[in-house]
Amino acid sequence: MISPIRWQGDRLLLLDQTLLPAQEVERPYTTWHDVAEAIRTLVVRGAPAIGVTAAFGVALAARASAARDADGLMAELEEAIKGLGATRPTAVNLFWALERMRRVALAHRHLPVAALGQRLLAEAQAMLDEDVAANRALGAHGATLVPERARILTHCNAAALATAGYGTAGGVIRAAHERGRLSLVWVDETRPVMQGSRLTAWEMVKEGIPHRLISDVAAAFVMKRGEVDLVVTGADRIAANGDTANKIGTYGLAVLARHHGIPFYIAAPVSTIDPSIPTGASIVIEERDPAEVRGVAGRQTAPAESPVFNPAFDVTPADLITVIITERGLYRPPYHFT
Ligand code: MRU
Repeated sequence: MISPIRWQGDRLLLLDQTLLPAQEVERPYTTWHDVAEAIRTLVVRGAPAIGVTAAFGVALAARASAARDADGLMAELEEAIKGLGATRPTAVNLFWALERMRRVALAHRHLPVAALGQRLLAEAQAMLDEDVAANRALGAHGATLVPERARILTHCNAAALATAGYGTAGGVIRAAHERGRLSLVWVDETRPVMQGSRLTAWEMVKEGIPHRLISDVAAAFVMKRGEVDLVVTGADRIAANGDTANKIGTYGLAVLARHHGIPFYIAAPVSTIDPSIPTGASIVIEERDPAEVRGVAGRQTAPAESPVFNPAFDVTPADLITVIITERGLYRPPYHFT
């Protein structure tokens, strides 16, 4: 199994996703500051993966602490939680994971500092294991929606690399493949950071899953030719009404799918649902470095002077989403998450 996040001995190991597919390098992390930087710079990315990674970041903060008492340690943990939370704004899994770590720390603040560090590490490991289990479960639910010899289009990377393992949209694809239902995966390259071509295609090759890479702009044509049976993507945050933030380009695919009469599915663990926001209108959309759009793979392809708009995510309205697939089962519109 592809494991992008692992604890080994006294350190966190992250598979550096900025180097894929050219190089497979695992990097060691022993401080929360470095973990935060890894999240910010996309060494690790994908909503569930950054949540689990941040949880290990909090555990690292506790393990490195020289605090003598509970108040001192809690102050350090709050600083780590704030710093880790300031890395990326859109995926709710990050804040969900940090809040869970805060609750565990508060509940066990009577423990000696070293013991609390161990307890927090165990919690982070539990979150990692639960994420893989959730993905297997949602994959199995999602596979029931996949027809025989299906041709599935996916966007970005919502597979093993974006999670603790197995994947969400990628989990549905894996589960369909394991059940012999899959004919082909259309992999959108996913400009500007190329998570589709660099990461999803890499996973498909590694696991022998039949796939074909397309530029994002080819999706409409492939649908028009009748070569897509369903679209499935992941999610970064799902509002109470089902509006869903995911990688930029997802909304366009949902519109295209509706036009062509193709089902459009979102696959995500319940930790991606944010019932505190009624609609997608209040989801903060991260804007990233203009250089990502002015160039491709480090090579400049636009004038340095050209102003750029580079939103990393968009919001797909709930009424374009046929089913939301979670580990608890399938949700159909109208969505009312509580
Ligand atoms: O900017 P990224 O690569 O973190 O964006 C990732 C996505 O948009 C994924 O589709 C989403 O996080 C779901 S991952 C299971």
